[in-house]
Amino acid sequence: MAADDADGWRAVYEVDFLEVGTPQRVLLDGLPPLAVFKLADGSCHVTADTCTHGEASLADGFVEGDEIECPWHSGRFCVRDGRATAMPATEAIRVFPASVIDGRVCIRG
Ligand code: FES
Repeated sequence: MAADDADGWRAVYEVDFLEVGTPQRVLLDGLPPLAVFKLADGSCHVTADTCTHGEASLADGFVEGDEIECPWHSGRFCVRDGRATAMPATEAIRVFPASVIDGRVCIRG
């Protein structure tokens, strides 16, 4: 299976260029801005980049465990399932199904 194949996977980011604790903001045609994460366990996750509380870019936030803390008002979200875990954030962020294919983080959706 190759990235950008007929199964609908789209390449988002090179895994080797992702650092644990340093999310990356990515723009792809037809999708909202994305935030790409590599966690300490080596897993990679892709979420919407825009905080649901305001318009902050979550890729500018702070990773702790499997959560991202928004840089504006310290709301938090789980990057694995998108749920809001700390106020003032209450609405989940979108999480994209992600897989590593040929060394690249890929998403469907
Ligand atoms: Fe993210 Fe307010 S904009 S918590």
